[in-house]
This record gives sequence, structure tokens and C-alpha cells, in this order.
Amino acid sequence: MYWCSKVAIHTYSATGLFSCQNVCMGTFKLAIVGRKGGVGKTTTAIHLAAHLARSRRTLLVDGDDRAYASTWARGGAMPFAVDGIGGLMTVGEYEAAVIDSQADPSEQEISTLGRHSTLLVLPAIPEAQAVSGLMQTVAVLDRAGVPRTRAAVLLTMDTRVGSATAEAREALAGAGLHVLTRTVRDTVAFRHASSGGLLVHKVGSAAGKMAWLDYEVVLRELLELAGDYSVQA
Ligand SMILES: Nc1ncnc2c1ncn2[C@@H]1O[C@H](COP(=O)(O)OP(=O)(O)OP(=O)(O)O)[C@@H](O)[C@H]1O
Ligand SMILES: [Mg+2]
Repeated sequence: MYWCSKVAIHTYSATGLFSCQNVCMGTFKLAIVGRKGGVGKTTTAIHLAAHLARSRRTLLVDGDDRAYASTWARGGAMPFAVDGIGGLMTVGEYEAAVIDSQADPSEQEISTLGRHSTLLVLPAIPEAQAVSGLMQTVAVLDRAGVPRTRAAVLLTMDTRVGSATAEAREALAGAGLHVLTRTVRDTVAFRHASSGGLLVHKVGSAAGKMAWLDYEVVLRELLELAGDYSVQA
């Protein structure tokens, strides 16, 4: 898969990857990636796109064959546009774009997204297994020459009980990764949101409203990070 914000020469290879022979900039692009399934990638893509859409014309690209993000947004109540992988060709028409990637993207997909996105968001659950899964993704980025400064780890499903989050944060930071300060709390409101085709603050619970604010703060951190590292945010 591939995305680019400018008119460019695109080719589609047998591996399913687009390639681009032009400079890709102008649209703020977040790619949500990770080789581990069920860590909150789609949930993160939907909610970051919703927050971006408050101030920018935003596209969510559903890069997952199972189309979970598209299904979630199918009622048409989302404040952003949604498209399948073909939407990568129209990213330049938007001020911001978020791509939700599939559960186990290939090495080539990860490295292409890493090279062409403003930032990569790597969701992880604060537990030992998820952290080691994340390091596989990071190894791919390293091999592709994508600077670790272009990736930010987002700890999701944080129960905020015990020391798991602090330990995960320490392990990831020790591996040279930027871990976002804000985590996303663990709440069943997300499950209700996805089954109802809603954003989490619309499910009618206090926890849902707080979780919505988590993503607002997460986006703010990402925009600050992009101001440091991206060509254009
Ligand atoms: N912060 C959270 N708290 C509680 N449950 C959550 C949270 N984030 C996501 N979930 C739930 O966890 C499950 C997996 O989330 P999601 O589909 O976003 O993960 P994913 O990484 O996209 O999965 P896949 O790898 O299969 O695409 C869903 O049931 C979702 O509602
Ligand atoms: Mg998903």
C-alpha cells in the first residue's frame, strides 16, 4: 500500500505496493501500524481522524482487507471521508489523512508507510507480549532506514492499575522509542462505539467522554511531534 499527497508517478507492484517517484508532502499523514493484532489500530485511526476533522479536511484510508474501519463508519455519521486503499491516490485533496493498516502488514508495506507518512503511530497494549511484538515492527523500520523519530508508540487499553504501563513505557523508551505521554484508557465504551457505528464520546457514558479526551491529547502530542520532525504538518 502507498499514499502520496502530490500528483506523482505511481506504480503498482505485484507485492501490492504503490511506489512514488515524487516528493510527497503537504498533507498531514498518520499511518497506524503494527504487526500485532487487536491492539487498537482501527479504534485509534477512527478517533484520530475524528479529532483531525475538527480543524482539517480529513480522509481515513482503510488499508485493511476486512474493512473494519469502513464498517464502523458506514452510517455516514463520521466527520471525515472514508475510502479503501484506492483512496491513497486522492490523499493530496485533503489536509489530513489517517491510514488504518491490516493486522499483519508485510515488511514492505510497513517500510513504505514509514517512508511516506508524516508520522507512524504504533499502538501497543501495556503488557510484555505486546511490547515484544512492537519491537518487530520497529526492526522493520530500522531495516528500511526510517528514523525512529518518525514513530510514536501509543499505549492503548490502559487499565491505569498497577505498574504495567510504567514498565512498558520504560522498556520502549529504553529501546529508543518515543512513547506518547498520554495513554488511552481501557473502557468498554470503545466496543459500544464500534458496534453502534459511533465515536466513543457519543455512546452516552462518562468513560466514553474521557476516552475521547484521551485521543484529543494524543493528537495534540502527535502534532507537536510532527512540528519537530515532519517536512510539513
Ligand atoms: N482503549 C480501549 N479500551 C478497551 N477496548 C478497546 C480499546 N481500544 C480498542 N478496544 C477494543 O479492542 C478490540 C480491538 O480493537 P481494534 O479493532 O481497534 O484493534 P486492531 O489493532 O485494529 O485489530 P486488528 O489487528 O484485528 O485490526 C475491539 O473490540 C475494540 O473495541
Ligand atoms: Mg484493525
